[in-house]
Amino acid sequence: MDNNTDRLPELLRRALKAQVDLGMGEFVIDTPTLPAATEVAARMAEAGRVVSVEQALGVNGTEEPQQEGLSLTESTKYASLEEHREAICNCQECPLGQTRNKFVYGVGNPEADVMFVGEAPGAEEDRLGEPFVGRAGQLLDKILAAIEFTRDDVYIANILKCRPPGNRDPQPDEMAQCFPYLREQVGLIRPKLICALGRIAAQAMLQTTTPLGRLRGKWHEYAGVPMMVTYHPAALLRFQSY
Ligand code: URA
Repeated sequence: MDNNTDRLPELLRRALKAQVDLGMGEFVIDTPTLPAATEVAARMAEAGRVVSVEQALGVNGTEEPQQEGLSLTESTKYASLEEHREAICNCQECPLGQTRNKFVYGVGNPEADVMFVGEAPGAEEDRLGEPFVGRAGQLLDKILAAIEFTRDDVYIANILKCRPPGNRDPQPDEMAQCFPYLREQVGLIRPKLICALGRIAAQAMLQTTTPLGRLRGKWHEYAGVPMMVTYHPAALLRFQSY
């Protein structure tokens, strides 16, 4: 993928259309923060998937507090993702360090324009050390393929880098401990767009308890980066009606 921001509206339009084609309903876009968001909203309206451009541009639907901390103009102390990975991959800051098989740092293009953030590694991810390689990952690959992307075009990471035993939900203290790692990844990659996959990722990134249904299909922002929230691929597998 090239680094041309001009292509983002078109890519986003195709991504959302692919999701609609996969049965995930229509999208209402509001509070756009991307410079090209007007363009995105217009194209989405054209495609019949936005309620109205005026609504898209005029309504402030965010409920999350402003993010503190990282601004992407600040530099991180690591020179590269690889250096960061090496610094943290033996982490024992929470009990999951004792139960993991592999630390699951992230995968993809270090210069990706688009970054996907999931919840935590599952059994397959823990075995292979790569995010989204199980069934949910196969669906994510199909969604990417529908917009002519591969894993090498985007970057994929999780809130937690180690598997919670039995795939239970991440605990607040685990997320608090691990979240700075993701923040560093975002700072190093500096994506132009973040897509949070599912409730846990979305709520953690936005520091909110707002339900997924109210976060989904709207523009948010993480560390100055426009962020979209959508269903987790595992939820799509479970509830085909989405
Ligand atoms: N679900 C996630 O949220 N992340 C993974 O890496 C795999 C499944």
